[in-house]
Amino acid sequence: MSAPHRTAADTRAPALRITAAVKRFGAVVALDGVDLAVAHGEVLALLGDNGAGKSTLIKCISGVHRLDSGAVEIDGAPVELGSPAAARAAGIETVYQDLALFDNLDPAANFYAGREDAGPAWLPRGLRLVRRRSMAAATAEVLARLQVALPDQHAGVGLLSGGQRQAIAVARAAAFAAGIVILDEPTAALGLRESRRVLDLILRLRDEDRAVIVVSHAMDHVMEIADRAVVLRRGRKVGEAVPTPDNQQHIVSLIVGGTPPAGATT
Ligand SMILES: Nc1ncnc2c1ncn2[C@@H]1O[C@H](COP(=O)(O)OP(=O)(O)OP(=O)(O)O)[C@@H](O)[C@H]1O
Ligand SMILES: [Mg+2]
Repeated sequence: MSAPHRTAADTRAPALRITAAVKRFGAVVALDGVDLAVAHGEVLALLGDNGAGKSTLIKCISGVHRLDSGAVEIDGAPVELGSPAAARAAGIETVYQDLALFDNLDPAANFYAGREDAGPAWLPRGLRLVRRRSMAAATAEVLARLQVALPDQHAGVGLLSGGQRQAIAVARAAAFAAGIVILDEPTAALGLRESRRVLDLILRLRDEDRAVIVVSHAMDHVMEIADRAVVLRRGRKVGEAVPTPDNQQHIVSLIVGGTPPAGATT
């Protein structure tokens, strides 16, 4: 198996490395000793059937859940990702499977939701207005840079199409991520054009030297954008492969468990 082409000559520590990750929910062992690393400038596809543990792993990396045991390193340094704020501070931005946008807020307000930039409510009204304008300008700039066109910058995002919402969520993650962007099924339920736009955003993130982890059930998208694919089954990593047409059948059989994961690197 060849090394991922984008990182073959890269001597830096991985952007993110997880070692022996274990997470239980009562009797369910959602993660059972998973190792995972992703490099800067690499798109890693995290694959597996429903319930394999993909979202759980992502939530542990983004501070929503805490690992029961295991270690996380960012750029070679150990980190504790005890909360979403800690993960953000460590440079990790996540687009969750359920998206988590506020329908009644416009894109700029969604961009900055949960961040301090808007200023506390006790700020004089004029000052808050100035801050809001600079937030809107910054948001418009990011959306333009990522080629996301919206019909109305100031409409609540609840009025936008699924693809536009997804693009905003991806753009928000892109805008704030220092080094690592995680996307849980970013093209699920999207049309061809919308999927295309999100895939292009992901490739642009990679070209900007971010490390990208993407969860997807869409094999054609994985084949197109991923430098490497890691497969989970029942909380365990059962193999990894470079997604080439030659490897596609192997990857599918790792996912569905049709063949034992012999020959897979674990
Ligand atoms: N908060 C939770 N409480 C209890 N069990 C959970 C919780 N979250 C996940 N699980 C269980 O952990 C296992 C892994 O779930 P997870 O959501 O990580 O799967 P997934 O690979 O993301 O699946 P899908 O492709 O359907 O999104 C499942 O058995 C699920 O029921
Ligand atoms: Mg999931």
